[in-house]
Amino acid sequence: MILVTGGAGFIGSNFVLDWLATGDEPVVNLDLLTYAGNPANLASLKDDSRHTFVHGDIANADLLDKLLAQHQPRAVIHFAAESHVDRSIHGPEAFVQTNVVGSLRLLEAVRKYWKGMNAEAAAAFRFLHVSTDEVYGSLEKDAPAFSETHPYEPNSPYSASKAASDHLVRAYHHTYGLPTLTTNCSNNYGPYHFPEKLIPLCIHNALTGKPLPIYGDGQQIRDWLYVSDHCSAIRRVLEAGTVGQTYNVGGWNEKANLDVVRTLCTALDELQPRADGQSYAQQITFVADRPGHDRRYAIDASKLERELGWRPAETFETGIAKTVRWYLQHQAWVDNVTSGAYRDWIGQHYGD
Ligand code: NAD
Ligand code: DAU
Repeated sequence: MILVTGGAGFIGSNFVLDWLATGDEPVVNLDLLTYAGNPANLASLKDDSRHTFVHGDIANADLLDKLLAQHQPRAVIHFAAESHVDRSIHGPEAFVQTNVVGSLRLLEAVRKYWKGMNAEAAAAFRFLHVSTDEVYGSLEKDAPAFSETHPYEPNSPYSASKAASDHLVRAYHHTYGLPTLTTNCSNNYGPYHFPEKLIPLCIHNALTGKPLPIYGDGQQIRDWLYVSDHCSAIRRVLEAGTVGQTYNVGGWNEKANLDVVRTLCTALDELQPRADGQSYAQQITFVADRPGHDRRYAIDASKLERELGWRPAETFETGIAKTVRWYLQHQAWVDNVTSGAYRDWIGQHYGD
């Protein structure tokens, strides 16, 4: 079996659902259920004996020792993190606690467990660390996309904490020989994306008649990847990646934020037109920029294609169409997550 951390969050829950849809290997899913973790994402697994959910913290060393001894996983896939850049600007400490201290505790528990395995099991064991393109910093307009050898230049407390965890993973391989793999992925979107992030926030705000907030001039560029493509990349790296290596994962879809939001508006105009016949684009509102906002990210995912034969299945157009349809069909899920705590955050961050 495999142990997944953070499997009730956006990407983790998509990964668990895809994993069990494409195979029968059981999953133990350790998640603290912070504001971003949502058991409703896993509701379809309620009666599935292949999925064991454990409510707990990756920083809890005793719990980790117990879980590893009890379930004897052949791999750990580490998603758990504080993941929202804006929240890291308002309160960096939680990011250091989970992304750095939590990752360290997990690595340490896994190292002890791995040392106790027999030689054959130890050789086959993998620790796969799920990371981000944000560790590489910001690119100039015409600079080549990030390769795996690009220097680390994290600019936000979030990306600095993820960079620290990447370095710890590297060190555990180099120093102790732990069989690690690291993936650095671009911006994901798709089902179960928490509506604090640009795409689900704008879909939700559009449908509820609220402004679609664009930071600064809206010309910041991100490289977008449909979440199931990220999941298939992780499965491929787990299966065939070279121990100690890092792999960039991206969608070859560089888009300016304003264009992303306009595309969403066009899709919504078609699928669920506004009652007054106007476009949702009317709701676009320029707001204060994010402090230290990275101008451009772009991922060169050619190593993953060349060495492991992975390419994304979705284009931006097909992925956005699926995403908008999913949100229109899952309004109850959105209502469930837009709880009081979520509204407090929106008030604190966007004000009026
Ligand atoms: P998310 O915020 O939606 O989910 C994070 C999950 O981790 C939640 O279920 C939360 O409850 C859990 N968690 C948080 N702290 C924990 C702790 N101390 N112990 C156990 N569980 C804890 O995040 P996401 O967008 O699904 O991202 C998952 C991973 O992928 C993160 O490591 C993130 O850095 C990375 N990543 C995300 C993106 C993206 O576009 N969302 C892109 C590249 C990489
Ligand atoms: O690049 C990978 C990263 O992508 C992941 O590591 C992070 O976990 C994930 O949250 C995401 O980070 P971003 O900061 O790029 O995602 P977000 O959806 O918050 O913002 C996307 C872009 O849109 C960014 O340039 C900021 C801008 N934005 C965001 C929000 C929430 C707006 O213009 N308005 C908004 O209201």
